[in-house]
Parts: sequence; C-alpha cells; structure tokens
Amino acid sequence: MSTIIDDNTTDMAMEETLISPRFYTTNYKELDKIDVSSIRDEWDPLIKEMRSDPNKRHFQKTSEWDDFDFKDLEPGLRKEFIDFLVSSLTSEFSGCVLYKEMKRQGSNADICELFAMMARDEARHAGFINDALREANIAVNLGFLTRKKKYTYFAPKFIYYATYLSEKIGYARYITIYRHLEKNPSSRFHPIFKWFEKWCNDEFRHGEAFALLMRSDPKLTSGLNIYWIKFFLVAVYATMYVRDHARPEFHKALGVDIDWYDDQVLRMTTEISRQVFPIEIDHDNPKWMIGLKRVKKAMLAYGKAKQSKGVTGLLKRPIAALNLGIAFVRLYAIPAKRNSVPETSRLQPSY
Ligand SMILES: [Fe+2]
Ligand SMILES: [Fe+2]
Repeated sequence: MSTIIDDNTTDMAMEETLISPRFYTTNYKELDKIDVSSIRDEWDPLIKEMRSDPNKRHFQKTSEWDDFDFKDLEPGLRKEFIDFLVSSLTSEFSGCVLYKEMKRQGSNADICELFAMMARDEARHAGFINDALREANIAVNLGFLTRKKKYTYFAPKFIYYATYLSEKIGYARYITIYRHLEKNPSSRFHPIFKWFEKWCNDEFRHGEAFALLMRSDPKLTSGLNIYWIKFFLVAVYATMYVRDHARPEFHKALGVDIDWYDDQVLRMTTEISRQVFPIEIDHDNPKWMIGLKRVKKAMLAYGKAKQSKGVTGLLKRPIAALNLGIAFVRLYAIPAKRNSVPETSRLQPSY
C-alpha cells in the first residue's frame, strides 16, 4: 500500500478554530534567562531521568501492534478517530516545534538540554501517530505544517501555564484511557492505545519540567499572575470538554461516557497541579458543570454562525461571539479554591 500525503488531512491539521490545537512561538531570549539554581536539587534528578531516555525503543510497531484496517470501522467512528489522531498529532508536533526552536535559539545549557530532550520525545510521539495514520493511507505533511500553520505568540509565562497544563492533561487523558481499556480490553478497537501507558510518562516528565520552571521564579505563581493561572485553567479545561463532546462515536466505541471521562481527567489534572498552582478549580461546585455545558453550547453556536453566509452570517457572528464571551466569563467567575503549594514539587506518575 503506497502512502500518500493527504491534503484533506493536512487541512484538518491546518484548521484554525477556537478549539483546534495551535502552534506557539515565544520570547526565546527571555526564556533563555531562566536560572534553575534555586531548584537544582529537583532539577538534576529529572534531567538525569530524561537523559536515560526510558522510552527510547517504545515507539515502534512490535508484534503487539495487531492487524487493523480503518475500513472495518463504521464511517462515523472512522471520521472521529482520524480526527482524534490528527488533533493529537498536531498537539504533539506543536510541542516539538516550540521546544526545538528554544533549543535552537537558546544558549542556557540547562534550558537547551531540557528542551532538546522534550523535542526528541514529541517528535517520536508525532511520528508514531503519523505511522498509525499511514495505515489509512494518509499522512499529515509535517514539513508543510511547520512552514504554513499560523503561530500564536505567547509571552514565556503564558507558555508555562498553557504548556504545563497541556502536558499534565495529556498525561491524564492517556492514562485514563489506558486504565479503562485494561479493564475493558474488548473496547480497544485500535492497537495504538496499548502504547499509552509508557507514552504518557513522557508527558508527565515534561509537565514536571514546567512545574520546576515555574517554581524557579516565585513571581510566576503569585500576585496578579494568579488571575492568569485561573484563566488558563478555565480555558484549557473548557477546550478539552468541548473538543471531547464533539466526538460521541469515538467515546462510544471506547465504552467511555464522555462526562465521566472528562470529570476524571480534569480532577486528576487538578490534583497534580497542586504541586505548583496556588489555586484550583472547584469541581464540586455544581455551577462548574453547568458553566462548562453553557460554554459548549455557546461554542457550537459560534462555530455555526461562522459558517453561515451572507447578511445572516454577518449578524449572527458578533452575537454568537458575545454569547461565548459571556459564557466564558461566567465560568471564570466561579470561585477557585485556595491551595497551599508544597515545599518541593516533584511527583511520580501514580495513576
Ligand atoms: Fe507528547
Ligand atoms: Fe509532552
């Protein structure tokens, strides 16, 4: 079977919506100035672990990779599964591009080594997903993506908050699916899920690194920055909620109730984030779930309004955008819980 670079799939990865994964760029010079000496005792063991490269040989198709034919999936499931793979690949590759650029532009030995190793891991993750997609005779053109996809600029501190959360949420997502399928192997409809356990340990370590970077400078997690932390918590959590609910067939095939799954993953991420964030989302506040649902509804309406053409579209768009803004502000306004951050932050993946 010959592999083609599929333009439609690359288009999917190029897509710019509010919830699609983005590519980021930052002020690399500022990032390069980080001094990790105050957290050196925790930094060195993490770097040592990453240098040992525990997943060096993990991302290869072994005999564990059972025969699979995309054609055997129902069309609805096939579409959502490919969408899941492409969106995961875009996120993995987005990390790779950002980390590699830091390594290229920086001169701080600690930072460059860390980012080189994280780029190494994300390149493997993205490559492995592309291998899986190749069996559907499609592949995302990563070179094209790097050159053509729009880059969003974030100041370094926003990169820390957003990337820390996406690494930890990535861990929580992969381990929750893996543990669920361990108990329900008949729902494992594709071999890639078998790779998730060791895979997510890479994401866990990346998250650990960002936790340490934030702890190297206490200003990043205090004062007005707490409002930014809350902003990223709410935005990242709501994005995941909306994105997952757009894939009903995929979750049904896994035998996973999306509300249960998202609640598990978000609570796990919150629990982990106590290592560094002085506040946390109050998952037990009934307004939280109501607010998430409201954002989802507003986001869907906004997506539809963007697609409608002519005068109707012109009228609908600002109203839908305003409604979405209001729904987000209401979710943001739900009080967060305080958390006292421990003296040291290092955690081991234990879920
Ligand atoms: Fe990754
Ligand atoms: Fe990662």
